[in-house]
Amino acid sequence: MDAINALFSRRSIRAYTDKEISQEDIETILRAAMSAPSAGGGNVCHYIVVKDKDLLKEVLKYHQYAHMLLQANAAIVVVSDPSLEKYPGRWPLNSSASTENMLIAATALGIGSCWVGFYPVEERMNGLRKIFNISDNLIPFAIVSLGYPAENKKPHGELDSSIIHNNKW
Ligand SMILES: Cc1cc2nc3c(=O)[nH]c(=O)nc-3n(C[C@H](O)[C@H](O)[C@H](O)COP(=O)(O)O)c2cc1C
Repeated sequence: MDAINALFSRRSIRAYTDKEISQEDIETILRAAMSAPSAGGGNVCHYIVVKDKDLLKEVLKYHQYAHMLLQANAAIVVVSDPSLEKYPGRWPLNSSASTENMLIAATALGIGSCWVGFYPVEERMNGLRKIFNISDNLIPFAIVSLGYPAENKKPHGELDSSIIHNNKW
């Protein structure tokens, strides 16, 4: 699938089949994460690849909108390290770009995905720190839930001219 089609057809997919995602595809998704732009260059994130269903079930104790993780074939926890950023305050932007790249890559591979948000909600982030042994100086930013789609959603990609401005507002 080309990039434009992947961008237009990406939707949050929360129902998955039990088909296994290959290690090669997981690595492609991680390479996409690491290919994202970042302020000043360099990576501020680490990625925890999770396939252990018990660990994913634990997450639901701390996040009420994370039920798709029960069906996910794999999930990637995005952990930000603010000490690695080149310019102060930019790490959430860099982490978002990296997370979005994974969603687009997954779509292009025919894999459904959903961004499960943790930052900036303290209780949710502390929950992930406990479950995945993440130290307090690091930020459990988001989880990308992954699985082959068991639901179909209409693509976006409409052009809404009411929010487009030419030259000036
Ligand atoms: C920062 C962020 C946090 C999100 N957190 C959650 C979440 O916790 N649970 C969830 O089911 N979806 C979550 N989503 C997905 C949104 O609900 C979804 O993108 C939005 O409803 C638009 O639908 P679409 O992705 O199908 O276009 C999150 C998306 C973003 C960008």
